[in-house]
Amino acid sequence: MRQSSHTYTYCLIGLMAILVLVALALKSHNAFGRSNPTSQTSLRIALGKQLFNDPQLSADSTIRCASCHVPEKAYTDGRPVAIGVYGRTGTRNTPSLATINASKADAFFWDGRRAALEQAVLDPLTNPVEMGLHSQAELIQKIEQNVEYRNAFAQAFPDIKSVITTHEVATVLVAYLRSLKSPESAYDRYVLQGDPTELSPRARLGLAIFKGKGHCAECHLLQGSPPTLTDHAYHRTGVGLDAVNANLPTLTQAIIERSLQGAAIGDRVATHADEAQLGRFNVTQNPADIGLFRTPSLRGVASTAPYMHDGSVATLDDAIDREVYYRSLQTGYPLNLTVEEHQDLKVFLQAL
Ligand code: HEC
Ligand code: HEC
Repeated sequence: MRQSSHTYTYCLIGLMAILVLVALALKSHNAFGRSNPTSQTSLRIALGKQLFNDPQLSADSTIRCASCHVPEKAYTDGRPVAIGVYGRTGTRNTPSLATINASKADAFFWDGRRAALEQAVLDPLTNPVEMGLHSQAELIQKIEQNVEYRNAFAQAFPDIKSVITTHEVATVLVAYLRSLKSPESAYDRYVLQGDPTELSPRARLGLAIFKGKGHCAECHLLQGSPPTLTDHAYHRTGVGLDAVNANLPTLTQAIIERSLQGAAIGDRVATHADEAQLGRFNVTQNPADIGLFRTPSLRGVASTAPYMHDGSVATLDDAIDREVYYRSLQTGYPLNLTVEEHQDLKVFLQAL
């Protein structure tokens, strides 16, 4: 009895050893093999990162994605509006790219003109005030001319035998953006780990205002894990609208005409500051959408100044004042925060 149980144990150990060896052999084979999805993903991320940082993909060879989406600034640029090739100025504030995954974004740009990230990542390359290439064909030409890129694309897409297309370029840029992690915030830890000490008493008072009398959480949603801090919807907060209100009939007409001529929305918006202020109307041409903008996620908001779609609000304090003011206008009930309450709200926003 004793003897046979020993034999059984030895057999079992032997079998396990063989299994481990087989598993190791398979793993090492896959590390070099082309069919391993993990290694292919990492190749695509690395290639996307390389393109993101390459100024050669712009008209004057000085601007790369990272010129405006600066990693050290939460992938924003710290400017009111972006500056692209030949020093050309755009019309909109550069949004953070680190929040795309965590906020579960399902529309892109301030007016939501793109529904797929695969489309959104290609637009800046041919936008006249961003990277300024004449066409997507010029982009492909630049990439094809670079032997290093040709090899890297061949490795990242072993099944594709023909030339590189915008589909592959978009795929690697998206792979890179999706790999960016929005840093875990104090509020994430407070929610996910249920640890009340992660938020200071002040921040907890701020949270109560955010959810309660401030009504902030109606649009900057606290649901989700981690919290998305946006409702993915469009709202009229009035930012920038005063400047164009008197001119509305002319502007709406101009937008409709340019759109009939087939001009790309992104290029139009980036080159016509007044029309850009009409927000979602540029996409839908529905009068009800004049001045509507996507609710931005407030993740990491303390490090993305200046604020709002046109970068017209310089500091977080000013942004809070603006939002409080517009909420009062919208609801018809004056919302008054004491100096202390304003400060509590700010400390809470800094924990996001
Ligand atoms: C000249 C500055 C500039 C450059 C260069 C630039 N961007 Fe942007 N990016 C912006 C601005 C400004 C916006 C917002 C535009 C708008 O909403 O109309 C934006 C928006 C985006 C968005 C949408 C984000 C969101 O949450 O809605 C994505 C994605 C993006 N850029 C990716 C890229 C990629 C990829 C590159 C390089 C191929 C790039 N950008 C190059 C300034 C820039
Ligand atoms: C009705 C929906 C709604 C409510 C309620 C709301 N916001 Fe906003 N918030 C928005 C929208 C939309 C924007 C972008 C406006 C723009 O750029 O034109 C925004 C922008 C912001 C910004 C600037 C973010 C950036 O990246 O530029 C901050 C900060 C902010 N809100 C804080 C708050 C606070 C604090 C409250 C509560 C007092 C609040 N919001 C209530 C919809 C809302």
